[in-house]
Amino acid sequence: MTDLPIQGVILAAGEGKRMKSSLPKCLHQVCGVPMIRLVVGAMQRAGIHAPVVVVGHGRDNMLEEVGSDLPTAVQDEQRGTGHAVLCALDSLVGDEGFVVIACGDVPLIQTETIEALIGCAIHTGAEGVLATVVAADPTGYGRIVRDRDGSVKGIVEQKDATDTERDICEINPALYCFKLSVLKSLLPQVQPSPATGEIYLTEVIRLIRESGGAVQAVVCDDEGEFQGVNDRWQLSQAANTFRMKILRRLAESGVTIVDPDSTFIGGDVEIAPDTMILPMTVIDGFSKIGSGCSIGPSTWIKDSVIHDNVRIFMSHLDQAEMESGSRCGPFANLRPEAKLGKKVKVGNFVEIKKSSIGAGTSISHLTYIGDSQVGSDANIGAGTITCNYDGYLKHTTEIGDGAFVGSNTTLVAPVKIGDRAMTAAGSVITGDVPADSLGIGRSKQENKEEWAKIW
Ligand code: UD1
Ligand code: CA
Repeated sequence: MTDLPIQGVILAAGEGKRMKSSLPKCLHQVCGVPMIRLVVGAMQRAGIHAPVVVVGHGRDNMLEEVGSDLPTAVQDEQRGTGHAVLCALDSLVGDEGFVVIACGDVPLIQTETIEALIGCAIHTGAEGVLATVVAADPTGYGRIVRDRDGSVKGIVEQKDATDTERDICEINPALYCFKLSVLKSLLPQVQPSPATGEIYLTEVIRLIRESGGAVQAVVCDDEGEFQGVNDRWQLSQAANTFRMKILRRLAESGVTIVDPDSTFIGGDVEIAPDTMILPMTVIDGFSKIGSGCSIGPSTWIKDSVIHDNVRIFMSHLDQAEMESGSRCGPFANLRPEAKLGKKVKVGNFVEIKKSSIGAGTSISHLTYIGDSQVGSDANIGAGTITCNYDGYLKHTTEIGDGAFVGSNTTLVAPVKIGDRAMTAAGSVITGDVPADSLGIGRSKQENKEEWAKIW
């Protein structure tokens, strides 16, 4: 767009009192992603790779989230948005070019909007450019005051506004692009508000006009993009807006979302076309889902990898992997490091943890498989339990290719069941069963004839 440098600042030092939380406001999550990450992502996609994040309240938590990959500036005392930017000025390199300023509590801003502001600054040569939007309910936001000729004169905060100014519905969503040299010279001149004692960033707009500079407004039409989060209810509302955007993007890319109202998919989830998501399903974290799958209803998936043509029905998956053609549910619980091979079948009330299951194996009912390697084309009977924990240590179980584990087998680990070996139903297996053999570990049945007739 330009050869001039474009830098960025994100304000995230405020406490967010109304959140009533020990967590700093900008770390609260919207669809599984901390708000600050969403704003950083939008800036980075607009070409601002290392925006300076201003931290203050809860700064240790904030630094943990962003400190290792982004420059940060500290605002010790929260004395207003202008003061926050003052704290970041030294981190902005040189005087050339532009600086985009956004707030960490307006999480849904779009890359295209940031690009539009930068484009406007470059093409008009304005000293300051700000986004504006007409809000259905402007309560709480700074109002845009325009001159008779329609140009932006300044921004009046709700707390400082007259009744007439409060009637203005065009609001300041707090996204700006300034010439860096202008910001550096005018911001230190802003005086604290007589009403609140805070140094307002918005005053820079007025100072630009007073010093004969030009201010341009980019009027946006999507109010939802600028929903600010000041309390938990606004957090829910922003999450809902974002959720619908995610679902719509997926639907437009070829994923069927049967019921958007009851479907929750995180911002970092990837789903390939021709997969169907059934109602009451939550997919979170960095989950990746292939094509031709059917997921849900009533399913919860986090940080899992699902290959093509997989069916997951009323189940719970956390850090699990399912290869193509495999299926699970209803009521399967695939815990971290559960890995199902191709065409594996996992049925009801089966829990699998830290185990790999070879292609074509069936584990159809009421089973716990933990710390195990199961071969391919094996059959694990109903009620099989791997006793992987002796109260002190975890032990592994190995089950070979084509093995047949009889119903209600208790496998006391460490133990190995060889290829094509069998165990008798109801066995407690404490020793290895060699390949092609049958292991029987139960007392022999005795029949007492006529016994039942005694009474
Ligand atoms: C601000 C704008 C208002 C706009 C609204 C949009 C000013 C004076 N007002 O008001 O015109 O309509 O955003 O959402 O700029 N922050 C700091 N340090 C501080 C104070 C705030 O880093 O000392 C950060 C907060 O963490 C937050 C952002 O700046 O991310 C906005 O602060 P907030 O107090 O929420 O400002 P608003 O009253 O919403
Ligand atoms: Ca705010």
